[in-house]
Amino acid sequence: MKFFIDTANIAQIKEAHDLGILDGVTTNPSLMAKEGIRGEEAIAQHYLAICELVDGGDVSAEVISTDLEGMIEEGKKLAAIHPNIVVKVPMTKDGVKALKWFSDNGIKTNCTLVFSAGQAILAAKAGANYVSPFIGRIDDSSWDGVQLIEQIAHIYSLQGFKTEILAASIRNPLHIVKCAEVGADVCTCPLDAILGLLKHPLTDIGLAKFVEDAKKMQADTAAVK
Ligand code: E4P
Repeated sequence: MKFFIDTANIAQIKEAHDLGILDGVTTNPSLMAKEGIRGEEAIAQHYLAICELVDGGDVSAEVISTDLEGMIEEGKKLAAIHPNIVVKVPMTKDGVKALKWFSDNGIKTNCTLVFSAGQAILAAKAGANYVSPFIGRIDDSSWDGVQLIEQIAHIYSLQGFKTEILAASIRNPLHIVKCAEVGADVCTCPLDAILGLLKHPLTDIGLAKFVEDAKKMQADTAAVK
């Protein structure tokens, strides 16, 4: 399973990249706005900075238009910023048409705002490279987000769809583990959820004991000399 970070914050992307486990980045208009990015030029510069930082990993950049022509024009501009840009397109009627157009024209896509297996089938049929089911938002409305990932994984495998399942709207480390268990191809996570995977109290207790005993060992070595 690939690890993407779900942020437009350069410091957080750098921290995940420095861990050595980062395969890509997803952004959305809310995440970009949160970083204070304003205007077409600044948006393009920010995407470029992210692409150069992750070096080789896919970077999802979302279209803001909601009509087919607007999405195509915007998507072409986004794709021209850097070869690793993946154009993020919403799951709407025009979005499906845009996915097909991008697929026919060699531009990589990520179909976003997916909340059902039916939508995931449409995204795959339209040639999306990634499909993004929002599991945290599904859980927030008392449905089971991980179950949707499992259902889509089952359908894609039965039908031979090549679209990669990108589990999005991850809220915690357990979401990541569960998504890995049911066959997500990618998890896009906030930095906290990634770092949460590190945590176990027995690791901390065990390491403290090893460090303490290592000091004794060093003291004994000094005494022998
Ligand atoms: C990423 O592709 C999605 O836009 C993002 O994961 C949505 O997350 P949220 O539900 O926490 O806003």
